[in-house]
Amino acid sequence: MPGTRRTTLIVCCCAALLMAPAAYAQHDHDHDHAHDKVAEKPQDPAAALSPKLRALLNEEMRLIDGGMGDLASAISIGDWSSVAKTAHKIEQSFIIKQKLTEKDAAELHDKLPAGFLEMDHAFHRTSGKLAHAATAHDAELVNFYVHRMLDLCVNCHAKYAPNRFPGLVAPAAEPHRH
Ligand code: HEC
Repeated sequence: MPGTRRTTLIVCCCAALLMAPAAYAQHDHDHDHAHDKVAEKPQDPAAALSPKLRALLNEEMRLIDGGMGDLASAISIGDWSSVAKTAHKIEQSFIIKQKLTEKDAAELHDKLPAGFLEMDHAFHRTSGKLAHAATAHDAELVNFYVHRMLDLCVNCHAKYAPNRFPGLVAPAAEPHRH
């Protein structure tokens, strides 16, 4: 909930003023993340990752992409056990949860904006909910969550991968032509 988060950050700001320089540096770091969250301008955090982590992120994306296709096929024929299995796989593919070295994990947290991480969390959480809905054979709810997941693909790519996916950048950003 953004409101709650904001309150926490404000409390953090006040506390940081009273703390040692090391803690203050940490405060600056958190502060940057807070700005990322509200920033309107699209960014490209993947470009800042090491080649290894960027490759991992793209590998995860390709898995997710394949999974979405599998979901569509299984949903349309009511193969709920396949739907639940694929949705669980997507839920688990979250790169932060994988066996990364401590250094990798620190790099991800350092270089990926808080808003990006939150969207990624939301995406994987939604996949978990989709798995539950599939277990309950609730086609309508399953479709609702698929739609929400697609929405998150589009929103995250538009905001955090605008160079990679220029098709998602709002046409209003282009010069006006007749
Ligand atoms: C939280 C952010 C986020 C979400 C959610 C997200 N993506 Fe991505 N995705 C990215 C970023 C960032 C890149 C570009 C990475 C780069 O530039 O190296 C990317 C790249 C990709 C690629 C290119 C992979 C490659 O190797 O060429 C595909 C395909 C893709 N995403 C599919 C999806 C699909 C399908 C969904 C939703 C079902 C999705 N993504 C959800 C952030 C996200």
